[in-house]
Amino acid sequence: MAASRLPESAQTGPHPHLGGVVRRHLESPWRQPLRGFSEAAFAQAERALAPGRPVVLDAGCGNAISTTSLAERFPDCEVLGIDRSAARLGRIPPLPENAHVVRAELGDFWRLAHRAGWRLERQYLLYPNPWPKPAQLRRRWHAHPVWPHLLALGGVLELRTNFALYAEEFALALEIAGHLPDVQVLSLTPEQALSPFEAKYARSGHDLYCVRACLG
Ligand SMILES: C[S@@+](CC[C@H](N)C(=O)[O-])C[C@H]1O[C@@H](n2cnc3c(N)ncnc32)[C@H](O)[C@@H]1O
Repeated sequence: MAASRLPESAQTGPHPHLGGVVRRHLESPWRQPLRGFSEAAFAQAERALAPGRPVVLDAGCGNAISTTSLAERFPDCEVLGIDRSAARLGRIPPLPENAHVVRAELGDFWRLAHRAGWRLERQYLLYPNPWPKPAQLRRRWHAHPVWPHLLALGGVLELRTNFALYAEEFALALEIAGHLPDVQVLSLTPEQALSPFEAKYARSGHDLYCVRACLG
């Protein structure tokens, strides 16, 4: 199997506009209208979850291998995988009873969950698309207008990435929002991997970064 390549970026450090962009998003609400199909997806998620149990969100779950592993790791929680890709969700394995998968656009889903007053136990962002070009800054979740909504959902937030700059910026954006990030370099074998992308990157010998923060 061919080795994966690390994201290449013209950035040599955190984006010079990162602080300004994050602060602006924290100060001014995102006004883009919510889409009808997102409201339907959110209603589907609300119906799927057993009431009264803590919820773990696997945001951008791909083919839900990680959703299954997280459901086994946290048997007292409901684990919800969200992804927008029909192709990836078409390949999900049989799910344990406490795991659920819904096709949705995360930018809308996080806002709907915030509006509905959700509080999460844990949130995982496993290997989000890196958007490495400097002009793509606002597509990275920590510089996206949805960032304050994601943070408001609370719980323990964990990002994993093979893109060092993403981890560094994510930690800075957490600090700007008043949270104390814990940044680790993970040394994993593919057998220990939590998700397919983690396995692929571990097999390719990449450094893997984990940024964790307790959002309360
Ligand atoms: C690089 S893959 C990682 C998949 C999985 N977490 C893993 O580690 O194997 C990123 C995933 O995020 C999903 N994704 C990207 N942007 C999204 C969005 N705005 N809403 C929902 N899913 C999104 C993609 O469809 C893709 O499955």
